[in-house]
Amino acid sequence: MTGTDLEQPGGGCASVVGLQWGDEGKGKIVDLLAGDFDAVVRYNGGANAGHSVNVGTERYALHLVPSGILYPGRFAIIGNGVVVDPEQLIKEIDGLQSRGVDTSGLVISSRAHVVTPLHKEEDAHREQTLTSGVAFTSANGDADARAGTAIGTTKRGIGPCYAEKAQRAGALRMGDLLKPDVIRERVSISAALRGIDLSSFDTDSIVDMLSSCGRRLGSMIKDTTYLLHALLNDRQRVLFEGGNATLLDVDHGTFPFVTSSNASALGIGPGTGVPPQRIDRIVGVMKSYCTRVGSGPMPTELHDDTAHRIRERGREYGTTTGRPRRVGWLDLVALRYSVMVNGVTEIALTMLDVLSGHDDIMVCTHYMLDGQKMDRFLPDSSDLARAEPVYERLAGFSEDISGIRHREQLPIAAQRFLETIETHAGVPITIASVGPGRSETITA
Ligand code: IMP
Repeated sequence: MTGTDLEQPGGGCASVVGLQWGDEGKGKIVDLLAGDFDAVVRYNGGANAGHSVNVGTERYALHLVPSGILYPGRFAIIGNGVVVDPEQLIKEIDGLQSRGVDTSGLVISSRAHVVTPLHKEEDAHREQTLTSGVAFTSANGDADARAGTAIGTTKRGIGPCYAEKAQRAGALRMGDLLKPDVIRERVSISAALRGIDLSSFDTDSIVDMLSSCGRRLGSMIKDTTYLLHALLNDRQRVLFEGGNATLLDVDHGTFPFVTSSNASALGIGPGTGVPPQRIDRIVGVMKSYCTRVGSGPMPTELHDDTAHRIRERGREYGTTTGRPRRVGWLDLVALRYSVMVNGVTEIALTMLDVLSGHDDIMVCTHYMLDGQKMDRFLPDSSDLARAEPVYERLAGFSEDISGIRHREQLPIAAQRFLETIETHAGVPITIASVGPGRSETITA
C-alpha cells in the first residue's frame, strides 16, 4: 500500500472475507494486512467464528476479538452486526492480557446484540430436536415420516440471538448492559416468549451475570458508527474482517445449512453502518482445497485416504468446537460464485503447503446434475447435494514449499495450480500462504 491509495474514493479501506465454508485462514491474512490499517472491524457472527493467528511461537485462538488486536495502538472494533457473548468476550480479553497483549484498542458497538444463556440453551435444544427428527404425516399418508436435519451449529446461541434481534421484543444490546433494570426487563420478556414460567426461572443469576459483564466491559461500549465515520473522515484506514464465510451467508450461502448473518462482504454495511463505496479492496481468502464443519452440501467432499491426509496435514479440526472438518478438493464453481457475490478484487490463497505430496491435484470446474453440465453454484441445497463434481486433473508436487517466499520459485505444478485458480476467479492471487507463521507467506 502506498500513500496514493488515499486518493482512491474509498480512502484505502479493505475487507477480508472467506470465500468457502469458513476456516480459510482469515485470521492470518487479517493479521498480515492489519499493520497497514488504523482499525480492524468485525461486522458479523459471534463466538461461532474461530480465528487462529500465529505470531512467533505464540498461537492465539480468537473468537470475538478482531484479529487486529495483535497490533498495539490500533482500534479493534466489534461492530453492531456482531452478536456478543459477554462472558466469552471477557474470557478472551483476560486470555490476551495474561499474555501481555495490549487490549486498550478494543471497542464494542453499543448496538451489537447480546447472546444470553437462553439463546445458547435454545440453540442446543433445536439441534437436539432436529437430530432426533420431528414426526409428521407425509403427503402420501405415512404417519411415521420423520423430518429434520440438524444444521450442526456451534451451539453458541448465534441463531436464536439473531432471531431475537429480528423479533425485537426481549432483545438485549450491549448498550443495555449498563442498565440492570433494562437487563431484567428484557431477560424476563425473552424467557416469557419462550414459554418459560418466570416463577420458577432464576432471572436473578442471569441479570447478575450480565450486569457484572456490563461493569467490566462498560468503558469499551461505544457508538461505533460515529467512531468509524470519524475515522474515515479523518482519512484513517479501516479493515473489515468477516466472520464465518460466504457459503455460510444466511442469504447467499447453502441455506439452510448456513449461519444466521450476512457473512459475505455484503454484510459490512448493515454490520457497521459504513456504506459500500468506502471500500476499495475486497480480499477473498480461500484454501487450496475445501473444508466444511456441520451439515450441508459440499459437492467435492472426499471420504478416502486423500481426505485423511489433507485433514491431518492441514490440522483440519474446528477452532471453536474441535470437530474434525469435512475435506474435499477445490470447488472452482463455488469459488467463481463467491468472487462474484463479494466483488472480490484479489485472492489470498492459504494452505498451499498442505497440498504437497499428492500425485495429482483435482479441481472441480463444473457440476453434473440430472445429466446436465452446470457451471453455476446452485441455490437449492438439495440440488447441490445431488450435484456430481466434474474434475480437471492437475499435476501434483511433492516438495516442501514452506520455505519459499517468491511465487516463481514454487514448483511448476504449484504455479500452474495458482494460474488455474486465477483464470477461473478472474482476479489475481496477491498472497499465497505456505505455512501458519506470519513469515510463511508469498506476496505478489
Ligand atoms: P452457527 O453459526 O453456530 O449457527 O452454525 C451454523 C453453521 O455454520 C454450522 O454448520 C457451523 O459449523 C458453521 N459455522 C459457523 N461459523 C463457522 C466458522 O467460523 N467456520 C466454519 N464453520 C462455521
